Amino acid sequence: MPGRFPAAWLDELYARADIVQIVSAYVPLKKNGSRYWGLCPFHHEKTPSFSVNAEQNLYYCFGCKAGGNVVQFVQEMERLTYPEAVEHIARQMHIPVPAMQEDPDYERRRTQRERLLAANRAAAKWYHAQLWLPENQRLLDYLHNRGLDDGTIRKFGLGAAPDAWDALTTELENQGYSQEELRLAGLTVVKPDSRFDMFRNRAIFPIIDAQGQVLGFGGRAMGDIQPKYLNTSDTPVFNKRKGVYAANLLKKQRNLNRIILVEGYMDVVALIQHGVNGVVATLGTALTNEQARLLKRYAPEIWVSYDGDSAGQHAIVRALDIFEQEDIKARVLFFPDNLDPDEFIRQRGLDAFQKLRPLRAAEYLLQRAKEGLDLSDDEGRMEYARRSAEILRKVKEPIELDHYLKNLTVDTGISREVLVQQMGITMPEAQQPQRAVLRPLRRNQGEKTHSMEEKTLISILASGLAPENAIRAEDFDTPLIRQLAEKLLSGMSPASILSECENDQDRQEISDLFALDIQINAENAASMAEQCLNTVRVHRLQKQIDEISANLNNLDNENKQDELKQLMALTTELNRIKRLVH
Ligand code: GTP
Ligand code: MN
Repeated sequence: MPGRFPAAWLDELYARADIVQIVSAYVPLKKNGSRYWGLCPFHHEKTPSFSVNAEQNLYYCFGCKAGGNVVQFVQEMERLTYPEAVEHIARQMHIPVPAMQEDPDYERRRTQRERLLAANRAAAKWYHAQLWLPENQRLLDYLHNRGLDDGTIRKFGLGAAPDAWDALTTELENQGYSQEELRLAGLTVVKPDSRFDMFRNRAIFPIIDAQGQVLGFGGRAMGDIQPKYLNTSDTPVFNKRKGVYAANLLKKQRNLNRIILVEGYMDVVALIQHGVNGVVATLGTALTNEQARLLKRYAPEIWVSYDGDSAGQHAIVRALDIFEQEDIKARVLFFPDNLDPDEFIRQRGLDAFQKLRPLRAAEYLLQRAKEGLDLSDDEGRMEYARRSAEILRKVKEPIELDHYLKNLTVDTGISREVLVQQMGITMPEAQQPQRAVLRPLRRNQGEKTHSMEEKTLISILASGLAPENAIRAEDFDTPLIRQLAEKLLSGMSPASILSECENDQDRQEISDLFALDIQINAENAASMAEQCLNTVRVHRLQKQIDEISANLNNLDNENKQDELKQLMALTTELNRIKRLVH
């Protein structure tokens, strides 16, 4: 726990720990500009994207976005908990580690968060110890009957909440935790005249984060008691929308080529016991963007593996949507005969599991699109084609797209050209770069707002109310609008520009632009222009950043360094303007 070190001592450690020196022990670094660069230890790469900022004492990888301070770096590399990493660094720097603090006053001075985490850790230890006591034999039997061996039980720190009202509460109170702290941690329920343990007569699954901190618990009821699973509700240290179950084990498995995302605690534990690695579960809620981003750090692909019932299937579609938003490659792993992952692995074993073929996201969605439709009927085939076109719009890889189109022409009898037309796109000419290094702007959205800004700017120019020299022709990207701007700036009136128009279509378009339905007056013209200009600049910078990022991996080392410098300059400028906009 952080609190075991005196704050002043920690401050000194951070001040003295030289991140360049410490990182250099793992990654050869070279100075370039204000940063040091090396090959990222957290993902595979051929040219350096990993940087160390000595002044700020931070590391950051522009490729995989791993980043943090010197202690976090050592935690990651050595797979240590926070206090272990602190000690590791202290030893390296020859800074004596202070003895464990036993002073009760010191305990009280810890921040609340640290206190709650400590209470959770103490609870997890106690629950685990309970499991081996004769009076809790039923709970151990339950886990054994569900196929878990003692090694797995220890690996996950599973435990037993005894069938008693306040056994844990009494124990933790004796350890010095207040009733209020236990209530805040979600361990104790406090009523006006009583208090009792939140978890009673349940098998306990501690939820441990990547740093090894116990954030909360899931408790499985014995038999048919409701609710079947009781989870710690949100507390100052636990937010079920942010974490995943078994994140602590994920951290220990480097170079995963995929993560399997399941629904239940038991699914995670059973799959891992049978030798499947990289398995996590959401914590009894639908997948969130935050969880998706967390998983993205550990593997390039996520296989969603939810229950076969309709709620599960619905959840898969939502999860695929979130992965798409976060630019994460996802597949769907489907278990036959309505088995959940736990049942499947127990009944059929690891070999059968490894033979399962995960469906690509679009493949899965296309399969679902067929449901409820009669493909022997014209209407059914047309509806299937419509739904499919919608799905295929998101497929980026031409080869994959081609494959689906071929099957679709067979299934629907509709020609490829028409299907593509329905998709409302032309076939991509070349494969897009797999993934931009920085989060790419959502293309069509960005373009729409961009031209709206341009339109506003041109109508401000046309209104004659634009402050002198505020708007320049270079601020416009669309050729037509830029031409108009040049003319207006040279002093031509909107009317004479229109009179020059050779065809009706141009004329209509231009008068439309000049007459944009916005209220421009002498008071608001300047600030409106400024806002639009900033937004245009943001889009431009973002576009440049995206282009550089997308191209980064095709460059040799020297060029890459230059581009990275450029990237940082652009990002700094972008952030500066963004602050002005908001
Ligand atoms: P077992 O019956 O133990 O095999 O559970 P399962 O993993 O098959 O459970 P299920 O598919 O019913 O639930 C999956 C996950 O949903 C669980 O791990 C819990 O996180 C959550 N969950 C299930 N039942 C409940 C419940 O009654 N209340 C809450 N809050 N969460 C639940
Ligand atoms: Mn189950």
